Amino acid sequence: MSERVYIFDTTLRDGEQSPGCSMNLEEKLKMARQLERLEVDVVEAGFPIASEGDFEAVQAISAEIRRPSIAALARTHRMDIERAWEAVKHAAKPRIHTFIATSDIHLQHKLRKSRSQVLDQAVESVKIARDLCEEVEFSAEDATRSDPEYLAEIFEAVIEQGARVINVPDTVGYSEPQEYGALFAYLLAKVANADQAIFSCHCHDDLGLAVANSLSGVKNGCRQVECTVNGIGERAGNASLEEIVMALHTRSDILPYHTGIVSEEISRSSRLLVNLTGTFVQPNKAIVGKNAFAHEAGIHQDGVLKNAQTYEIMTPQSVGITSSTLVLGKHSGRHALSKKFEELGYRLNREEVERAYFFFTKLADQKKEVYDEDLITIIQDGMKIIPDTYKLKYIHSAGGNQELASAVVKLEKAGQLFVESAYGDGPVDAIYKVIDKITGSRGRLLDFSINSVTRGKDALGEVFVHVRIDGRQYTGKAASVDIIDASARAYLNAVNKALHEKSRTRNHARAASA
Ligand code: KIV
Ligand code: ZN
Repeated sequence: MSERVYIFDTTLRDGEQSPGCSMNLEEKLKMARQLERLEVDVVEAGFPIASEGDFEAVQAISAEIRRPSIAALARTHRMDIERAWEAVKHAAKPRIHTFIATSDIHLQHKLRKSRSQVLDQAVESVKIARDLCEEVEFSAEDATRSDPEYLAEIFEAVIEQGARVINVPDTVGYSEPQEYGALFAYLLAKVANADQAIFSCHCHDDLGLAVANSLSGVKNGCRQVECTVNGIGERAGNASLEEIVMALHTRSDILPYHTGIVSEEISRSSRLLVNLTGTFVQPNKAIVGKNAFAHEAGIHQDGVLKNAQTYEIMTPQSVGITSSTLVLGKHSGRHALSKKFEELGYRLNREEVERAYFFFTKLADQKKEVYDEDLITIIQDGMKIIPDTYKLKYIHSAGGNQELASAVVKLEKAGQLFVESAYGDGPVDAIYKVIDKITGSRGRLLDFSINSVTRGKDALGEVFVHVRIDGRQYTGKAASVDIIDASARAYLNAVNKALHEKSRTRNHARAASA
């Protein structure tokens, strides 16, 4: 009989802390809502002691997201654990996830503690956490490079104190599937009270083995898998949620395990994360890459046309990919548009339909053919989740390979117009200089990427920027058939996020001192 495997999603904690993947509070909330639709069992929402922003995000997610458990990470310190509890205590199912390293390398060089000191600290912390919270998870950081006997000893002791989930992280992605599976088999046999806890795997992908290791963990008794959407995470990333779920789903003949994941939400979750972070997935990435279901070779196309099963081991529909067909023309009405969005999985209210329709008619005027991907881009681009302090009203840029580029930009803020001009190394640089001049920001462009949403010279161009402003990194995004317009609006989007953050911090400080 098929056994249940619990999916613990750490996109908003282990994933979010990786370079280029940071999200603000509104973005984290948006992602958490999608994780709830995906029906993950646990959302690890952040590390509350790490920053005020992390704390607020965990608190906001705990207040709104009711179906999954909401976990908050804490080192094995009273202060961390109390802060984590403060952030998750209003969740429907709060969880404190406390961790300490157990390998000799970490003990000697990082913690400078003996094995017995670490054991005592783990036990004491689980006790503190259990006094506050019913669901407590304990992780032995760098477990796969720790002495298995010591691991068994520490796990038995924390289970004795009430830890109900025992996580065995391959923190540095060092393990190999057979070895990782054998570790679970050993621990489950050796830890006397193992039946009182769920054992969990948490694998990093430094050797490209995170998913294989996780599956091996499952085959050897682990029943919680920690993973992230698109496999984002520290260094080479974490085990990818979509790969684990679809492997269990597709190979149920030899893997008799199931998850509660709504697989049709996978593609939408992946796209949303790309949209929020500006971190793309490689085209050949399993399950969610652009080419994952594309058949290019003639023999393959012929086979798929005769019977899709010849070259498809799962259907694109099973992960929520809709076929890219010509959909609507410029004469299509609101009703057809909202029906199409519904088919794509977006249920819009009346106001959202109006806004989407406005953007759709603009696009249909500029572009002959409107595809599903265009509509998804419209909806994600148009439904901004933070207010635009500055709105782009006009841009003119000029340049060429023989002359200095220049730009004139007009922005509006609260009904007031601001016009400035600047020279730059190319039209985009000139525009960014003007935006900085008007808004008073000093943005450092860390990354700029442009992507065509569909094919054809009139395709929508989607621009993502990562910009450092006042020491923090912001993602900006915009789409347009005019790439200069998209470049300007993407940068302005990042600047508006920074201004929003600044005003929120200011209001916070004011409220605290009042
Ligand atoms: O990789 C790791 O060890 C972790 C722990 C904090 C669970 O992320
Ligand atoms: Zn990790």
